Amino acid sequence: MTAIYSRIIGTGSALPERVLTNADLEKFVDTSDEWIRTRTGIRQRHVAAEGQTTGDLALAAAERALAAAGVKASELDLIVLGTTTPDLVFPSTACLVQHRLGANGCAAFDVNAACSGFVYALGVADKFIRSGQSKKVLVIGAETLTRMVDWSERETCVLFGDGAGAVVLEPSGEPGIYATCLHADGGFKELLYNPVGVSAGFRDEPNHGVRIRMAGREVFKVAVKTLDALVGETLEAAGMHEADIDWLIPHQANLRIIEATAKRLNMSMDRVIVTVDQHANTSSGSVPLALDYAVRSGKVQRGQNLLLEAFGGGFTWASALLRY
Ligand code: ACO
Repeated sequence: MTAIYSRIIGTGSALPERVLTNADLEKFVDTSDEWIRTRTGIRQRHVAAEGQTTGDLALAAAERALAAAGVKASELDLIVLGTTTPDLVFPSTACLVQHRLGANGCAAFDVNAACSGFVYALGVADKFIRSGQSKKVLVIGAETLTRMVDWSERETCVLFGDGAGAVVLEPSGEPGIYATCLHADGGFKELLYNPVGVSAGFRDEPNHGVRIRMAGREVFKVAVKTLDALVGETLEAAGMHEADIDWLIPHQANLRIIEATAKRLNMSMDRVIVTVDQHANTSSGSVPLALDYAVRSGKVQRGQNLLLEAFGGGFTWASALLRY
């Protein structure tokens, strides 16, 4: 029997219009462009306008991905959306986007795996296609993380931005996604979390305590070590070698973490897609934003092998190795 793979047939992305540069941040928080650039590689980030939601960005990215794929929203039979900043507690942002697209009736749900949300969603969607359950799938990563940033906390506020990316998948006899690896370890919760939820920490006051708590240096160390092991595991699962990878498309949190993963793969930085300088850390939005940039700029070509990876709160970590 011919193996069924899922193949990316279109990509799209969306960013809020407003750009906040490091120089802008210098005006209201005790930081410097030099500190931010040398520690993280970030030069600027996009920030959602008042009233602009994760769903708005997700919708725009989805429309672009569907147009690139030549697929009508009514053809979709599944929408999986990675986010940790949903518009509402419920319905899911996937349901809100489904209705706005006019794809009513298909399955739609959110995946919360923090910064690994898009790669998790891609892994889930891949299983739906491989099982024969779904034929046209929209996978989105979208966030408005700046909504839970405390702009007076220099340790965190310089790191994050808003944005969304999306892909359309369909079944194919040819690869396609070779392998996905998804992991989590809830034992690391204290190093990166937001203490406010519905069942815990909730108080009906504007912005009560809703802010990112992060032990940056510890997160950094675990991220580098974990991603090092993850890329090895992914190559093995796909039966491939480092030299088979054409492009690394990593989660865009910190240029130094990205460089460490590239070094582990013996890849020069000209084979790594870097957007962290422009977008900062957009959590679930980061990998699909980088992928769409890579496709639309003509860097990534059909037939090339891409390694996608992400690491985030949970901790969660995930990868996908695919032929574009
Ligand atoms: N501007 C100026 N100085 C700052 C700032 C700032 N924005 N933030 C912290 N500092 C100061 C600290 O107070 C500290 O001062 P001290 O030495 O007087 O105590 C000094 O800079 C050094 O701080 P470190 O924590 O050692 O800096 P480090 O080199 O580790 O970089 C950073 C910090 C950028 C947070 C890094 O650890 C990191 O990127 N960690 C990964 C965290 C991350 O990416 N989280 C996002 C979500 S998870 C993910 O996506 C991977």
